[in-house]
This record gives sequence, structure tokens and C-alpha cells, in this order.
Amino acid sequence: MKKKNVMVIFGGRSGEHEISLISAASILRSMDKNKYNIITVGITKEGIWKLYEGPIDEIENGNWEKIADESKEEKGFKNHMSLLPMGEDRGIVILGDNRTEKIDVVFPVLHGPFGEDGTIQGLFEMMNVPYVGAGVLASSVAMDKAIAKKLLQADGIPQAKYAVIMFKQYREDETNIIHEIEDNFEYPIFVKPANMGSSVGITKAYDRGELKKSIESAGKYDRKIVIEETIKGREIECAVLGNDNPIASLPAEIIPSAEFYDYHDKYIAGTTQFVIPAELSEDETEKIRNTAIKVYKILDCTGLARVDFFIERATNRVLLNEVNTMPGFTKISMYPKMMQTIGIEYGELIDRLIMLAIERFNEKNS
Ligand SMILES: Nc1ncnc2c1ncn2[C@@H]1O[C@H](COP(=O)(O)OP(=O)(O)O)[C@@H](O)[C@H]1O
Ligand SMILES: [Mg+2]
Repeated sequence: MKKKNVMVIFGGRSGEHEISLISAASILRSMDKNKYNIITVGITKEGIWKLYEGPIDEIENGNWEKIADESKEEKGFKNHMSLLPMGEDRGIVILGDNRTEKIDVVFPVLHGPFGEDGTIQGLFEMMNVPYVGAGVLASSVAMDKAIAKKLLQADGIPQAKYAVIMFKQYREDETNIIHEIEDNFEYPIFVKPANMGSSVGITKAYDRGELKKSIESAGKYDRKIVIEETIKGREIECAVLGNDNPIASLPAEIIPSAEFYDYHDKYIAGTTQFVIPAELSEDETEKIRNTAIKVYKILDCTGLARVDFFIERATNRVLLNEVNTMPGFTKISMYPKMMQTIGIEYGELIDRLIMLAIERFNEKNS
């Protein structure tokens, strides 16, 4: 079979830039070089795209950026590139170099805003190139916690009780909005920016003073804020893979070492416990797997997603928390680890994702 030209994109403008570097380096190390010609593009935190042809080991530490610039400066031009949306020749042009690279598939290893939220997916649609993961709609809906909750609620998926407020409206009518929240929710109350990830901007408010501070802090990240009842429960995740007939992994459990799974606990403390697969009854396992697939289909996901749940301790209710369309993807991340529970190893997972991207593209274009 002819080798495929795969463009792996990493970095990006979101707060999850560093996580993306780790995921991408891991993917690049595992991709079969006999099957794929790999073209690597890094996006800086400022949003500049750079072709990267240096060693994989210089990606995680951030050195890739300097190396990408140096190699081009030697040749006397800046490392700027542009996408080339030209039918069969779709690909990238290295400006200043007399060079184009044809692209067969894009693997955007980007988390959070401008990577997982449909924006870059829109660019790939315009280029008419297959890409790994969810399409424009599923990406943006899953990214927006307020919209995702509303859609899933319409289909009867159990979730924590929630409300959505607009930050601007809150500024104009603070007293009434606070009263309304207090009439409907008991402290502690979770406050989240609608569009973020990695727990950024999320706080748990224990009283009115904290609630006000939490809203102010979430308001720094988004104009839309989600208010949620606190669920006392276990945190369970499930990995889903596929297009029209998705499959689900066995569920896994996360046991945060902090009061909740906040940014520090996720990326700094290193003391979170992961139980893969989770210790659940057969019924619970099946319920989680089936709900994960149902949620995946409702949001029209393709490729992959990690679907996150709570199991409420007092009631055993299974509640959906959120869907991540480009979850952490290092070899030891939850998504690949969960896929192993159904016999899909890391290298095979990458192959399957690339095939799914092409399959979806061909279906749409035939
Ligand atoms: N309603 C809730 N009740 C209890 N804990 C919650 C609730 N919502 C979020 N959390 C905690 O906060 C973490 C981050 O929230 P989440 O909605 O998953 O945001 P992110 O997209 O940033 O991961 C969760 O993993 C969980 O530990
Ligand atoms: Mg989460």
C-alpha cells in the first residue's frame, strides 16, 4: 500500500499547549514509519504555525520552536507556512522555500479551544482533507458545556442539575442572579466557564462570597458560565472509538487527591490514582458503556472521545459529566489505557484513528 502523508499538528493557543506536546511526541514515536510519511507542524502559543523537522525528543521540552526557526533561517527565510486547499494537491506550502507538501490526512493532536472546539476542524473542511477525530459540529458542541448539557438533557441523559448564566447579565443584575442560584442550588456549588478544559476557571463555592468570586473567575474565561450542583460520587471515564458503529472500552476510575480533580491535581501533584478498569458491578459497567456510546452518537462524534461520568454515592445514579473529543493521548493517558482493556494497543489505535478519518471523508465525498 502507498504510504500516507500524515500531518501531525501539536501545540496550539490553548492552556493545554504543553499537554498537546506530550501527546504528540508520544504519537510520533509510535507511528509506523513504513506506513506513514509524517509531516510535523507545531503551533506556537501565539498561534503561529511552523513546520518542524527536528527530533521528536525536542518537542515536549518546547525546544522545537527554536529548532524550527533555526533550520529555516539557515536557508535564508522565515519558517512560515500556509495551507493549500487545492483539490488533489491539498497540503501545505512553506513560504519562502520552493516547496509544497501534499497531505492525505491530518492528525490534530490539540486540546482545548482552537484545537478541540471545531475551529481548526473547519479549516480542514475548507481544505477538503480528512482529519482524525470529531467534525466541526461535534467538536464545538462537546466543547461548550452549556450546549452539550442541553442537548443531552433533551435525550434524557441523566446529569447533575445545572443552570447557565451570561456573565454580562450577571454584572448588570448580580443580586437577583445570586438569589436565583441560591433558591435552586445548595452549597457547595460548582462554577465553570462553558468553554474550557483542564479544570481551568472551575471552582467549588461554599457560600455566597465564594460564589461571587467563582463567577468572577469563570467570567475571565468565557462570557457564558455553567452553575452545577455538587455531586458526591466516584469519577468514572469511558473511551469510545469509531464512526457509525462506535465501540466502548471498559470504564476506569479517577481518584483525585485534591478536593476535586482540579488543574494542580491533573498536571502538577501527580498523586491522582487511576483504576483501570474500574471496580464496578457488571450492571454498572454495561450501563456506563452503553451510555457512553449513546452520548457519543447524540453529539454526532466520530473518531474518538472520552466520555466522563459520576456515580453518585448515595443513590448509585450514573450521571454524565462531560465529553472530550481530543482527550490526552500519551501512552499512559486514560484514553489509550482504557482502549487497552478491550485489546487495542497504542500503535493499532493510531492506525484505526487514521483509517476512521479517511472512512468518514470518503463517505462524505462519495
Ligand atoms: N457537578 C460536579 N460535582 C462534583 N465534582 C465536579 C462537578 N463538576 C466538576 N467536578 C470536578 O471538577 C473536575 C473538572 O470538571 P469538568 O467539568 O470535567 O471540567 P474540565 O472540562 O475542565 O475537565 C471534574 O473532574 C470533577 O473532579
Ligand atoms: Mg473533565
